[in-house]
Amino acid sequence: MPSLQEQIQIHEQEIKAFNPASPADLENYRIRFLGAKGIVKELGGEIKNVPAEQRKEAGQLLNAFKKLAEDTYQSYKDQQQQSTNKGPAVDITLPGTPLPIGTRHPLRIVENQIVGIFEKIGFSVATGPEIEDDWHNFTSLNMPQHHPARDMQDTFYVSQNPDWVLRTHTSSTQARILETQPLPVRVICPGRVYRNETISARAHCFFHQCEGLYVDKDVSFADLKQTLYYFVTEMFGEETKVRFRPSYFPFTEPSAEMDISCTVCGGKGCNLCKHTGWVEILGCGMVHPNMLRNFNIDSEVYTGFAFGMGVERITQIKFQVNDLRLYSQNDVRFLRQFQGL
Ligand code: PHE
Repeated sequence: MPSLQEQIQIHEQEIKAFNPASPADLENYRIRFLGAKGIVKELGGEIKNVPAEQRKEAGQLLNAFKKLAEDTYQSYKDQQQQSTNKGPAVDITLPGTPLPIGTRHPLRIVENQIVGIFEKIGFSVATGPEIEDDWHNFTSLNMPQHHPARDMQDTFYVSQNPDWVLRTHTSSTQARILETQPLPVRVICPGRVYRNETISARAHCFFHQCEGLYVDKDVSFADLKQTLYYFVTEMFGEETKVRFRPSYFPFTEPSAEMDISCTVCGGKGCNLCKHTGWVEILGCGMVHPNMLRNFNIDSEVYTGFAFGMGVERITQIKFQVNDLRLYSQNDVRFLRQFQGL
């Protein structure tokens, strides 16, 4: 049998831990501790068994315990009283707790803008598979086996002989369009592409492209230039300048790289344009006759232009994001900055 002092201690702990969830809880507490047959009474009755020399001290302990039991009761009673005086605990006239809504990913925002601009001038959207066969990703695009141009794009192979790859560009979708659609075609092909590159601030093993293709009678390089010029003024503003530099792509001839005047410094020189005043945004050119022939298109009658841009690159220029990895880290502090766009 524990001593009176020990019993007091145990019950004190119970009282300190007590936290009523309802008025009924508090009433049970009152009966248990303060009732006619409650613990306070019961322990009070035990004082007579305490040896005489300890009785004074035990009496004081008992008084303190009784006060704790009563005060605890009273303070919870007051609390309950107050909340009933206040009316219902919920004010139904207050606006509801807002549910956090997600934001569109910056790459998706920019992809939508790019697609929207080309849709306005009659391009339709085409998508294709991310796992491609060799024909659509390479061979039909005038990149036969062992063509050195294949090394321009480090490729992830899903299987070999026959080759299946993670597409290295969305030009594969353009190939599928030429294969299946009647001419003329005017398509924009957004989507994710893969290249076997070491991940850093400036490269990733996957990224997103928007590639365009227009094949019809009498399509000229002038059409290509005007279409792309229209695109950049819509995307970056009226005052944007463009320049074309000769380049090489196996599926276009002639080929060019297009730069725009730096949107940050306006051409004076800054970090974005590496102090040249120009930033490269896309590759383009007139569709190679070999490619048209691969799809049984008479290259004497039909001509076309194609272009391809990286969505990450356009987004980087538009929002000045200087690290590619941010796009796939899913850090909400980054993503929330694009709220409402
Ligand atoms: N497919 C090329 C690439 O991914 C881009 C491109 C498309 C260039 C069309 C010219 C014409 O690098």
